[in-house]
Amino acid sequence: MLYKYFTLYADEKILEEIDELCFSEGFYSIFSEVIDSNLWRVKVYLEPDQEFPPFLSGYPFELGGEELEENWWKKFKENLKPFMLTHHTKLIPLEEPNQITEEGALGIVPGSAFGTGLHETTKLASRLLEKHMEPGAFVLDVGSGTGILSALALKRGAKKAVALDIDPAAVEKCQETAWINGVSIDARVSNFLSALKPGERFNVIVSNMIVELLERFVKETTHYLKSDGVIILSGILKEKFDAFVTTLEDSFSLLETEEMNEWKAAVLKKR
Ligand SMILES: C[S@@+](CC[C@H](N)C(=O)[O-])C[C@H]1O[C@@H](n2cnc3c(N)ncnc32)[C@H](O)[C@@H]1O
Repeated sequence: MLYKYFTLYADEKILEEIDELCFSEGFYSIFSEVIDSNLWRVKVYLEPDQEFPPFLSGYPFELGGEELEENWWKKFKENLKPFMLTHHTKLIPLEEPNQITEEGALGIVPGSAFGTGLHETTKLASRLLEKHMEPGAFVLDVGSGTGILSALALKRGAKKAVALDIDPAAVEKCQETAWINGVSIDARVSNFLSALKPGERFNVIVSNMIVELLERFVKETTHYLKSDGVIILSGILKEKFDAFVTTLEDSFSLLETEEMNEWKAAVLKKR
């Protein structure tokens, strides 16, 4: 397919703003590359009949031209190098599905679903998951995207990981991620917690979504948490953190927070 692309040259501050907006809107067809010390080229890729996203209309993007889908994915993937997702786990972006055998490594084919591991919110969720999960744990991953958090949990000794996403393409992507990493993810299409069965209980629930989505289901997770279970919430902008956590005080106590750039994550325990 021929994609049309729009280009903008941006400094770090503008790049961060755009990144934050795209994260909030669940828009992932964006690619940025460093040009100079504080200059990035940002490209938005759209299918031929797709309108320019209104939430980016305040930025002076210009129509750049057309590019074959394969080319922009290739460029996107070439720019992804292995990196440390957590203090103990290396993330290896793959060109195509291949089974990963390297100890302490996780593989992902970056694709249509969110969850390359590069985003700060994924890194925060991954680090807190690794820290708070005991081997043998039952883990629930709400808004799983590529399934990166479920795969990490299983690689670190979880007994079971249930991955829920509203997007059927993400659920399919989860199965690919599971195969690459030699684990088995129970991936389900689900609107928030709708695909959970009565009686299912988890030691750890993890979710990386914007506050406006988190607040729609987090309280309900108390029914699915074991009595000593924890919930890890990422995807929260620092300026929205305190107000959001206050709304949860009746049901949860705050155990730990961690932040990266403009993002903050929390670990909470059921009261
Ligand atoms: C920011 S991504 C997080 C992906 C991955 N867990 C990570 O940390 O990188 C949020 C995911 O939530 C999913 N999502 C959005 N609304 C949802 C809903 N109502 N129910 C379940 N999943 C939803 C999106 O499809 C997307 O894959």
